[in-house]
Amino acid sequence: MTDLIIAVDGPAASGKGTIARALARHYGLPHLDTGLLYRAVAANVTMLELDPAQEADAVAATDFPDSLMDEPALRSDEMGKRASIVSAHPLVRAALLQRQRKFAHQPGGAVLDGRDIGTVIAPDATAKLFVRATPGIRAKRRHAELTGRGSFVSLDKVLADIRARDARDMGREAAPLVLANDAMLLDTSFLSIEASVEKAIELVEGRRAEQA
Ligand code: CDP
Ligand code: CDP
Repeated sequence: MTDLIIAVDGPAASGKGTIARALARHYGLPHLDTGLLYRAVAANVTMLELDPAQEADAVAATDFPDSLMDEPALRSDEMGKRASIVSAHPLVRAALLQRQRKFAHQPGGAVLDGRDIGTVIAPDATAKLFVRATPGIRAKRRHAELTGRGSFVSLDKVLADIRARDARDMGREAAPLVLANDAMLLDTSFLSIEASVEKAIELVEGRRAEQA
């Protein structure tokens, strides 16, 4: 059987991580949340007291210990924002590229989620999903997650952060968040988690059938 590489891209809180994890479980494949790599760089920049906006500072922070990726602090909104600042530097992206490509191209295949999986990391992926939802719905989801973890932040602030992050991730020169021309759109705005996962499996199966 040929390797199955599934690329899942999309903006913050669109549901891409939930869908990628479920696809990995369904197909028995390893999964990489590539956002965690950029969040780890952001956390390391902060620990080293460097400036995320300076490319050389951010590059120096790419040499982080793997254990950092398990830190709950990486999941804060502030770290998401700093991750989107460090991730705009081309040399930071270059430093993290091989690790992601190697993961995607392991025997059997893999599922990766992020912003540039279908465009840069694995343009040869078997199936590419672009997951989206309206900014208002994404803000409500992220707000529920953050308050559930005991972090008290207003819905307005979460929405403003999501809009700022979308603008930065879509507007940057280096590997912006764009719809790959062979990606399949999956709008989760009005779908439950279960329905989103079912739809994702259906789309991947459709692509596999075409390629068989
Ligand atoms: O889960 P959420 O979508 O909120 O964020 P994430 O996937 O953890 O990504 C955090 C930030 O890392 C994003 O806003 C992007 O700027 C950056 N990122 C990226 O540039 N490329 C990727 N493949 C993954 C994340
Ligand atoms: O990875 P990404 O930031 O795109 O989003 P996620 O972490 O998969 O999902 C963000 C939140 O939305 C999580 O709490 C999911 O459980 C929730 N979600 C949802 O309510 N409905 C969906 N159809 C998909 C995700």
